[in-house]
Amino acid sequence: MPDRYDLPTGFRWGAATAAYQIEGAVTEDGRGPSVWDVFAARPGAVRDGHTGAVACDHYHRYPEDIALMKNLGLDGYRFSIAWPRVLPTGSGPVNPAGLAFYDRLVDALLDAGITPLPTLFHWDLPQALEDGGGWLNRDTAHHFADYAAIVTDRLGDRVPAWITLNEPFVHTVFGYALGTHAPGRTLMLEALPAAHHQLLAHGLAASILHDRGLEVMLSNNLTPVEPATPSDADLAAAQAYDALHNRLFTDPVLLGRYPDLSALGVPDDLYGAIHPGDTDLIAAPGLDGLGLNFYNPTRIAAPTEPGLPFDFVDIPDVPHTAFGWPVVPDALRQLLLNLRDTYGKSLPPITITENGCSVTESTTPDQPRIDFMSAHLDALAAAIAEGVDIRGYYTWSLLDNYEWAEGYHQRFGLIHVDFATQQRTPKASYTWYRDLIAAHRTHRSRS
Ligand code: FCB
Repeated sequence: MPDRYDLPTGFRWGAATAAYQIEGAVTEDGRGPSVWDVFAARPGAVRDGHTGAVACDHYHRYPEDIALMKNLGLDGYRFSIAWPRVLPTGSGPVNPAGLAFYDRLVDALLDAGITPLPTLFHWDLPQALEDGGGWLNRDTAHHFADYAAIVTDRLGDRVPAWITLNEPFVHTVFGYALGTHAPGRTLMLEALPAAHHQLLAHGLAASILHDRGLEVMLSNNLTPVEPATPSDADLAAAQAYDALHNRLFTDPVLLGRYPDLSALGVPDDLYGAIHPGDTDLIAAPGLDGLGLNFYNPTRIAAPTEPGLPFDFVDIPDVPHTAFGWPVVPDALRQLLLNLRDTYGKSLPPITITENGCSVTESTTPDQPRIDFMSAHLDALAAAIAEGVDIRGYYTWSLLDNYEWAEGYHQRFGLIHVDFATQQRTPKASYTWYRDLIAAHRTHRSRS
């Protein structure tokens, strides 16, 4: 079994965050409201009514956070840009103070020797665009492309690679189908136009970024799907779920076509959203890298009640994180091999843009997180040894932060944050990751 020191030369070590989860300062310097500000204020929407109004106060404390990243030895830092800071109403005038914040952040990262890897959209849509239909409105894709042009005009001279969208699956399903995330719509499968418009936004922005000589990635949340039993009914249910969760967001980008969703009763044109030529707009720019966010595999059974054609089944007999997610590191290896087998030459190099787990605050010395990361890095090294091209690993997350509908209850950070005082305290996993990165560098320089 190859170990994690056998990663290729140039393999990039990183950590990831997202704007609404860490920045706070939601009314400062001209930032407009996002769907998350509005959703989190809705009674009952988020556990204990938590909001991201302060979060980790990273907007003010970014120099301290970058010092912690530098000490960790990171090659790269994945963060997201808040669209409503740059364009407070999404499509109107630019807010110079908002752009200036990201300018300072990028320069401070570069001064620390860390490559910035920005995500242009990590779920905090300007509320003004949501009021016009949000991602259900095709115009949002064009507004996104304009926003991408504005941001890369400012930062593209110093930032070589960009992620357009974070997890369009999770945003579509939680935000528009189930309503457990902002903007809180409950359209079930009729939410799927929001998926297409995000992919269209990706394609339009990717062309603009390529014209500027920049590299483009898309970060998808992918999960290997296994049937609960070998029965035909469970197998069919698992295939339907795989099409919805994985292939819907990867096939159009890599193969230029949508998967067959007929088992879900979804029309081929996604309820009229797909216009002629759209699949070319999505695929033609090509992807320089696929961002993979991996947390857990999914077990699916045939439905026991009318409604959706699948049921979720827990995976027993494996550890579960504080969030209740099953821990199956080898599923990452399987997923990577499946991607290679499914997409072949169409698969660009992969970067793991999120992987990590929430651990209960009282757990010291943070051993479950160390075990989680260690086992997933072994799985990744095994996939590399089996021929998958993987360029880097960005752990989720640098800091404990605002975990969406769970508020501040799920702690994913290498660094503990006391949300009352904003005190940062590195955990044992921080020291472990720092030593791992240093050992990897030493090992490579000797070999
Ligand atoms: C992912 C999100 C990220 C974080 C982790 C735990 O789905 O992209 O913002 O919430 O889950």
